[in-house]
Amino acid sequence: MLQEDDVGSYSIRVVESYDEMSQAAADIVQQTVEAAPGAAITVPTGQTPLGMYEELVRRVKAGTLDLNKTHIFLLDEYLGQGRDDEASLTRWLYESFLTPAGIPAEHIHEVPSTAADPEGAAAAFEVELADLGGLELAVVGLGPNGHVAFNEPGSPPDSRTRIVELAPESRQQSSAYWEGEAAIPERAMTMGLGTILSAKRIVLIVSGDSKAEILRRSLEEEPTLDVPASWLQNVGDRLEVIVDREAASGLTGV
Ligand code: PGA
Repeated sequence: MLQEDDVGSYSIRVVESYDEMSQAAADIVQQTVEAAPGAAITVPTGQTPLGMYEELVRRVKAGTLDLNKTHIFLLDEYLGQGRDDEASLTRWLYESFLTPAGIPAEHIHEVPSTAADPEGAAAAFEVELADLGGLELAVVGLGPNGHVAFNEPGSPPDSRTRIVELAPESRQQSSAYWEGEAAIPERAMTMGLGTILSAKRIVLIVSGDSKAEILRRSLEEEPTLDVPASWLQNVGDRLEVIVDREAASGLTGV
């Protein structure tokens, strides 16, 4: 760790490497599940969290971490796609984390993206989460356009789980996740920005210089609908930002 500092009232930790970021995020997941067994947490898909997953799975296999009681809520999924589809964020999470970590099926709360009544199912997903006391922890990544989960620019900060139109940048980002020509739907279902912002603890992990400018806009400009992640500034010390040096290179406050 290079530096720990307060910018506003959230904390930001600039680390030397992707591995260090992944370890630090895994440590927070571990602390959370040990302090609040049976609590609900959410974790992201994408490239950024893969190192954190590897570390969590390593700890589970080594017997130093028990995730058997933890409820995992998924963040987002393409509308109409599910874990049996090639291009599926749910499938991505099963393969990279849920299956190797042995999370019990009854503790996995998939985004109901294939439900016959998706709006009703999205509302029921929120109720399921509220019944477990809401999110104890939300680990989130930062999209190239500032999205958090699939809360695209324009998403209200009090939005709940719902169907959204994907921004062109997000569809482009998604098509790079799968080799070949996997078709990326135009719509998705995402946990709401408001749902995420209500978490008791929020960890934003960001790596690489391609994210430096959007991270700067997220943390150093006034919160705006144009940059969904910018609303994270408003949650105060519930937010911990863990970034590598490259992602932090545009920040003036650290
Ligand atoms: P990435 O995606 O980790 O693949 O960069 C981040 C996100 O869109 O949240």
